[in-house]
Amino acid sequence: MVGSSGNNGHWWQTAVFYQIYPLSFADSNGDGYGDLEGVISKLDYLSSTLGVDAIWLSPFFKSPMADWGYDIADHTDVDPLFGDLATAERLIEEVHRRGMRLILDYVMNHTSDQHPWFDESRTSRTSAKRDWYVWRDPKSDGSPPNNWVSVFGGPAWALDSETGQYYRHTFLPEQPDLNWRNPEVVDAMLDVARFWLDRGVDGFRVDAAHQIMKDPEGRDNPPTPHDYVRPWKDMGEFDRFVHLYDLGHSDVHSAHRRFREVLDLYPQDPMSVGEIHVFDLSEWASYYGEKLDQLSMPFNFHLMASGWGAAELRVTIEAVLWHIPVGGWTNWTFGNHDEIRLATRVGEPAARLAALLMLTLRGTPFIYYGDELGMVDTEEPVEDIKDPWGINQPFLNRDGCRSPMQWSAAPDAGFGSNEPWLPLAPDHERRNVEVELADPSSMLNLYRKILEIRRGSPALRFGSYLSHPESRGDVLAYRRESDTDTKTVVLNLSDDSQRVRISPGRVLVSTSDPTRTEFFAEGVDLSPYEGVLIGHD
Ligand code: GLC
Repeated sequence: MVGSSGNNGHWWQTAVFYQIYPLSFADSNGDGYGDLEGVISKLDYLSSTLGVDAIWLSPFFKSPMADWGYDIADHTDVDPLFGDLATAERLIEEVHRRGMRLILDYVMNHTSDQHPWFDESRTSRTSAKRDWYVWRDPKSDGSPPNNWVSVFGGPAWALDSETGQYYRHTFLPEQPDLNWRNPEVVDAMLDVARFWLDRGVDGFRVDAAHQIMKDPEGRDNPPTPHDYVRPWKDMGEFDRFVHLYDLGHSDVHSAHRRFREVLDLYPQDPMSVGEIHVFDLSEWASYYGEKLDQLSMPFNFHLMASGWGAAELRVTIEAVLWHIPVGGWTNWTFGNHDEIRLATRVGEPAARLAALLMLTLRGTPFIYYGDELGMVDTEEPVEDIKDPWGINQPFLNRDGCRSPMQWSAAPDAGFGSNEPWLPLAPDHERRNVEVELADPSSMLNLYRKILEIRRGSPALRFGSYLSHPESRGDVLAYRRESDTDTKTVVLNLSDDSQRVRISPGRVLVSTSDPTRTEFFAEGVDLSPYEGVLIGHD
């Protein structure tokens, strides 16, 4: 058995999260960009229609939008594109009024180059805030201080001609890296967290959480060997080097401890989930902290990185569960605003299995907006790309997974503007909330049904995970158990029908047939690519 019964009572352990990318969710003023008022108008959909418990809202802070809000120019104000501070406060209130929770993005690694801190830092080498960012002298030939490359491509250093030094930027030149080794920066950034916690937010998704500290000596990264096996997707130019010195420096843990101390002082029991792209599981798990005193959870991207076969998924799931420290808790996700959408990656039948899997594993699920409809990535001509990563390296373009949410068959898909900032998906007339609600076999109704059963099932919410002996070949099967409740999940990941021997039970959900509810005594039959959730009374 992996993962024992029960949890330690934090709200976020039994919650289902939903990520909103606010630019693309709902546009209340018709300017083409989604906004906070738009989010407020859709809260009933989230709490009542879909039935999720918590929202992660991507950045809405003041920003020149070089990276669409991940370049923050004022952490404690709202960008006019999204509304104002009063609307953000009302949003927090409205979320809570519906019994849901709200977490915000906490962008630790960098600010915008338009942030007043950076304005001051770049004025002179002796500025009081010079050391708030990472400045280094050029090499004797004028070139950057080392060979580090930015995630988005090109060198990770930009020359400031006025002061003759380079500043470091892990992402865009418009996103200078903060210096987390400077105690004033730590204090200022912890104040940012306090600002939002004081306003009642329930925690943070921590952006680029493992990247905030790097080798203080700034040693060159070695080039990638020819036989290098990528642990994750093709990262383009970034993959030219092994990131020995610019990723996951061990000092980063002290910053996460400091951050956690702040969170732990608040009565709402705030949580943090950190964006940790680390695929060595022991290292990944180190972000919980030895005393569980760092991130509440590192984001678990391992299912996204896993191959899509029963055996690979099972190995991945069990490896993750084995690596969580005692008392720790994990999460599962298949998508976010940086990744090709689930239904595009694996196709619709498999996306249905993925939904059943993610919502029934032991851990906190994170649904990316629109995945509950089976939304797919959009395509656009290269000259229309808005994503800076896509502009630099088109095959890594993230616009496709950020298209406007599909609410209805109306020409604007119910998004709120006929000319949204990114093109609507061509399938929006048939794939949208309105149409799918009326269709019992839709992806949306599948999500709703699983979520409803999950809410009433202690086994699914916090029970143990036990691999089932019938988990072999193309079948993935596991049991979830609490003192009072047992559920079995069986997924057929093949084109062939399967008969699986399971102790007597009733089919509660089938990913392919919404009418299936039969009781069976000896075994359950699965059609190709069908998954079932079984209850045992
Ligand atoms: C994270 C975000 C991504 C952003 C980057 C820089 O990876 O998820 O969207 O571009 O950080 O902030």
